[in-house]
Amino acid sequence: MLSVIIAVASVRLLDVLMERRILVCVGSGGVGKTTTSATLALAAARRGKRTLVLTIDPARRLANSLGLETLGHQIQQIEPDLIGGTGKLYAMMLDQKQAFDEVVATHAKDPAAVQRILANPVYAQISGSLAGAQEYAAMAKLHDFDKSGQWDLIVVDTPPTAHALDFLDAPKKLSDAIDSPAIEWFRKLQGDGGSRWSFVGKTGSFVLKRLAKFVGSKFLDDLGVFFTEFNDVLGGFRARAEETYSLLRQPRVGFLLVASPEPMAIAEALSFHRRLSASNMPFVGFVVNKVHVPHPFVGGVPAVEAALAAHPAITALGLSGTTRTMAAQALVAAHTEVELLADGDRLAIEKLRAADAESLLIPVPLQRDDVHDVGRLIALEQFLLA
Ligand SMILES: Nc1ncnc2c1ncn2[C@@H]1O[C@H](COP(=O)(O)OP(=O)(O)OP(=O)(O)O)[C@@H](O)[C@H]1O
Ligand SMILES: [Mg+2]
Repeated sequence: MLSVIIAVASVRLLDVLMERRILVCVGSGGVGKTTTSATLALAAARRGKRTLVLTIDPARRLANSLGLETLGHQIQQIEPDLIGGTGKLYAMMLDQKQAFDEVVATHAKDPAAVQRILANPVYAQISGSLAGAQEYAAMAKLHDFDKSGQWDLIVVDTPPTAHALDFLDAPKKLSDAIDSPAIEWFRKLQGDGGSRWSFVGKTGSFVLKRLAKFVGSKFLDDLGVFFTEFNDVLGGFRARAEETYSLLRQPRVGFLLVASPEPMAIAEALSFHRRLSASNMPFVGFVVNKVHVPHPFVGGVPAVEAALAAHPAITALGLSGTTRTMAAQALVAAHTEVELLADGDRLAIEKLRAADAESLLIPVPLQRDDVHDVGRLIALEQFLLA
């Protein structure tokens, strides 16, 4: 059944991996986004691609499974001997706050302004809480890496879906926040490039006086200075947001939706699929990870009992006939349970197929152990790239 499902799509994930420049793995929590991203990045590097795997998830898992002690905002190369093949693999765990500071630095008018903005207490507040700001910074970074032309492929591992949605919406959200009436009001109070609260008018002065009572006039001054300095940055932000928004819709980008066969994860994958289609994101396919593979066998308890009786290790135990029968019954019951799980997984996969008959649908079997080293990641390649 699994092979029938795979055969529906005419493209293979291997082709996608070799052709696209950016692959984004999204999906709900714990389904295997990081594992899939790392496996794909490794697979591309092993085939000669200069690859960067960019994680936004602060979990240490990517670092650990790629044999790195730590992973942070600096790009690190993975030990080439671990990878095999001719390409090079690099990884980075993006620090979203730092990435936001970097975007600000790009757009501020001069280095002194960068220092003033970064040191401003209002900036510290805003950069952490402005809707979509951190995610926006991640996308901006991706945009920079893409533009640098340094990478044949960038694989992006995103946080769980709820945040991944923010992540996709980030450029627009930030743009909306920048254009929000509240920010516009503050900007107007500042007047044209004044560094203090000028041109505030009667209402403005009144509101500011009242505000000062609550938040202190030092805070209001910081706010004033911040909005003046930040005004230069906003224009650049908006332009970059638009570029990033269109980057994510280009055909050289591909979105892979990772899910596990559990009902919740499938429901989320379906909803995410609708979101991607509605916003014209280039969807590549579903990866259904941790699938129970069916192992049908005929013969029932008597066949298992006969097999046990013939097995040298079991014979060595000198079990009685009754004990062997009981062991065979327990084994058959356990097998039936696994078959039921496999059956449920098959139905779950069919739901995804019904939602999208064209795209890739790749089942990856549940492995006996966690996938936490390069060897195990490479072992998953055969399923992902089948
Ligand atoms: N096919 C598989 N078989 C068995 N274990 C797996 C498989 N794929 C992933 N795992 C394990 O499942 C756990 C979660 O995987 P992973 O970290 O890739 O998920 P994630 O979607 O990135 O999670 P999060 O949402 O927390 O970022 C890990 O311990 C990983 O080793
Ligand atoms: Mg993860």
